[in-house]
Amino acid sequence: MNTVDIINKTKKSIPLKDNEIKYLVNGYTSGEIPDYQMSAWLMAVCLNGLTENETVSLTFAMRDSGDILDLSSVNDVTVDKHSTGGVGDKTSLIIGPITAACGVAVPKMSGRGLGHTGGTIDKLESINGYRTELPFDEFTEIIKKTGFSIISQSKRLCPADKKIYALRNVSGTVDSIPLICASIMSKKLAMNTDCLLLDVKWGSGAFMKTKEDANRLAELMEKVGRASGKKCRAIVTDMNEPLGNCIGNALEVRESIELLQGKIKNRLYDICIELSANMLELAGKGNYDDCVLMAKEAVSSGKALAVLKETIKLHGGDERICDNVNLIPQARFSHVICASRDVEIVSVNAEELGMASLMLGAGRIIKDDEIDKTAGIVLEFSVGDKISMDAPLMTLYSDIGSDFSEAALRAYNSIKFRTLTSHALT
Ligand code: URA
Repeated sequence: MNTVDIINKTKKSIPLKDNEIKYLVNGYTSGEIPDYQMSAWLMAVCLNGLTENETVSLTFAMRDSGDILDLSSVNDVTVDKHSTGGVGDKTSLIIGPITAACGVAVPKMSGRGLGHTGGTIDKLESINGYRTELPFDEFTEIIKKTGFSIISQSKRLCPADKKIYALRNVSGTVDSIPLICASIMSKKLAMNTDCLLLDVKWGSGAFMKTKEDANRLAELMEKVGRASGKKCRAIVTDMNEPLGNCIGNALEVRESIELLQGKIKNRLYDICIELSANMLELAGKGNYDDCVLMAKEAVSSGKALAVLKETIKLHGGDERICDNVNLIPQARFSHVICASRDVEIVSVNAEELGMASLMLGAGRIIKDDEIDKTAGIVLEFSVGDKISMDAPLMTLYSDIGSDFSEAALRAYNSIKFRTLTSHALT
């Protein structure tokens, strides 16, 4: 087999055979195929796409490049959830405990945030003492005890994806639906849970900017999941607005706990119930409507919060935060932005808010950047709300410094207002 022939075939849209894709993935992972040949092939994929069969072959070859988890010691049905990421997306911290409280095990490996999107591992590390790197045995022991655990992505899972993703990042080949599908699904299939729920986000704060692209990605991921024999479902959800009112790691942990305490009933709550109910239905716990009721009861009874508390404790974290959110680390500095006139909120650019939060220290521009776990933004509005002059729109937080000017401007400019009265601007 010859790498140049393979590149030429994809360049001419001639479908590759399964063994040609395996040759490419294995050769690149082992270092026999150089970066320049792999980038040429990736660019051909970006321009011409791949067939469904090729995408399945690519996903399986990447999945098989490393360990595949053995979760057979967990007696309950196992379900994993993947969200394609967004701004303020803390759903994993909420739906894992809800689903586990209903008798379904949720073993999860997650990543760190990069750019405007946050990462679940950064959020968990804002809890004092919480260990995100555990040996596999300890991870499964926690799942057997509480039904839920999240650790950081093992380096032994999908080494092919790690190498290919790094190359895509520097070769302009990230935004290809088959490549995104193979990258996400190879990691999820290596987790090897019985069922898999995919939450594909679209909108200003998401990878997929249009609903059409999100639908295409969702459909493709479902096909690949089913080809592997897993129970798999993809749903498409809106990420034009941040999910919930808080953006930033410790702030999002606080919001998640408040939701599980039953204090929050907003769009974030609705999405978490929808995702949990889908996971429960996939796991065979009943029809969708029954699963919605089950998920709601897990919150109102406090059972889901108890799962989170026990899981945090077993991870070495300060579980007292589940009773007293004021024990979550807090920023030293804050800055309130108020409306300069009576306004209606027409829309908000979630990506821009994510970038403002990143400027405050909550996110990373490059992989090794240090983050300020307490930094971020708390919004006082939802799209469609009317805000009177001088009322707060949002509060910015930082532990690093008290100069909020640049981030405040970016955050303010992310909102599209409609003036409600003829008040002069101040
Ligand atoms: N997330 C991934 O893991 N891979 C992609 O290609 C895009 C988002």
